[in-house]
Amino acid sequence: MKVLVIGGGGREHALVWKLKQSPKVTKVYCAPGNAGISEIAECVDIKGDDADALLDFVKYNWIDLTVVGPEVPLTTGIVDSFIKEDRVIFGPVAAGAQLEGSKVFSKDFMLRYGIPTAEYKTFSSYLQAAEYVRLKGAPIVIKADGLAAGKGVIVAKTVEEATDALSLIMKDKAFGDAGKKVLVEQCLVGEEASFMFLTDGKTVVPLATSQDHKQIFDGDKGPNTGGMGAYSPAPVLTEELNEEIMEDVVGPIMKGLKREGINYRGVIYVGIMMCKGKPYVLEFNVRFGDPEAQPILSRLDSDLFELLKATAEGRLNEVEVKWKDEVAICVVLSSKGYPGEYEKGKKIKGLDSLKDKKDVVVFHAGTGLKDGDVVTSGGRVLGVTALGKDIRTAQDNAYKAIKEIDFEGMYYRKDIGDKAIKK
Ligand SMILES: Nc1ncnc2c1ncn2[C@@H]1O[C@H](COP(=O)(O)OP(=O)(O)O)[C@@H](O)[C@H]1O
Ligand SMILES: [Mg+2]
Repeated sequence: MKVLVIGGGGREHALVWKLKQSPKVTKVYCAPGNAGISEIAECVDIKGDDADALLDFVKYNWIDLTVVGPEVPLTTGIVDSFIKEDRVIFGPVAAGAQLEGSKVFSKDFMLRYGIPTAEYKTFSSYLQAAEYVRLKGAPIVIKADGLAAGKGVIVAKTVEEATDALSLIMKDKAFGDAGKKVLVEQCLVGEEASFMFLTDGKTVVPLATSQDHKQIFDGDKGPNTGGMGAYSPAPVLTEELNEEIMEDVVGPIMKGLKREGINYRGVIYVGIMMCKGKPYVLEFNVRFGDPEAQPILSRLDSDLFELLKATAEGRLNEVEVKWKDEVAICVVLSSKGYPGEYEKGKKIKGLDSLKDKKDVVVFHAGTGLKDGDVVTSGGRVLGVTALGKDIRTAQDNAYKAIKEIDFEGMYYRKDIGDKAIKK
């Protein structure tokens, strides 16, 4: 069977790597891919948002399954166009992708179906939003409605900071149309975790839990990034809490999708904040988390191709999902300056020495090839992912492997895994 993966980050490298392990898969293509992906799959130079070109590629090459990595093609309806042409594709239709594509839709959905979440109000007038912020006081959270590549949320410590954020989004239009509406949200305090599940609209299959590290600096300090590291499982989500999430969050989501006539086939990522012992939903994503996908897929002991194909074909009830007992951790190596401005094209050294290492896989995110060398091409460059019998061993394995790698301006957090050890 032939598979096409859409995207070119660390998540897609992990998807391609795991799909390749399936005895049923004969060939994997990736559009557009990256330097690491090109070593194990055939990269094709088509952008993820060019649905017509991707559909042509799939028809011409007799692709049996297409897997969509990032959110943008999902919100613009790539799945709808594939389904119209009877192609098997993993990911939700555009109506379902609204759960991530519009934070207003998503919060209203939570409210409609009684899903626990922070109190909020929606505004399309700057003056009214600013007035509400003054009324509520700080800390308070400001969110642009639409997709903003992880930059559209400001957790404001003061009223002034919140008003500045409103002005940036609504007056300066820093995120364009994504900022036409904003949410002003109550600020929750607690520990975050990621809970993902597969669904074909009928059956729900929870995936292993995980925990991301959003901030750039150790101790969760500094600005938010796309994610600087993750591990799986997340000890903060106990067995008991998982059951509570299934009942209070996943159940209502499924009921809501059904009631609104959305035939959702894909993964739903629930961003959880544990607040006074209760899980609150921060947001939904309609694709695998990145970097969470890296440790999760490293622990998956089932055939990913079968799982994703069964999801896309509405027969998720036929498959079973198994996990390795080991813990997995992914530490992201980033370019100097990220999440702000950074330079590209830095030569990456030491990757070859890690190729045959047991328990360690280096997933590429922002990498490219220049004159035969692997060079940096993005803010998040690599995700060094390691397994271990416990979190401490996995952490040791990952940080030992990192010592082998070097590029100019390489930066990484030194504390990924510490929170899990403290539990
Ligand atoms: N209501 C809230 N209270 C406190 N922190 C929040 C709240 N909503 C979001 N955050 C913080 O902001 C981050 C980003 O918000 P999120 O809703 O996940 O948007 P996105 O991932 O699209 O940027 C979260 O991971 C969390 O750290
Ligand atoms: Mg988020």
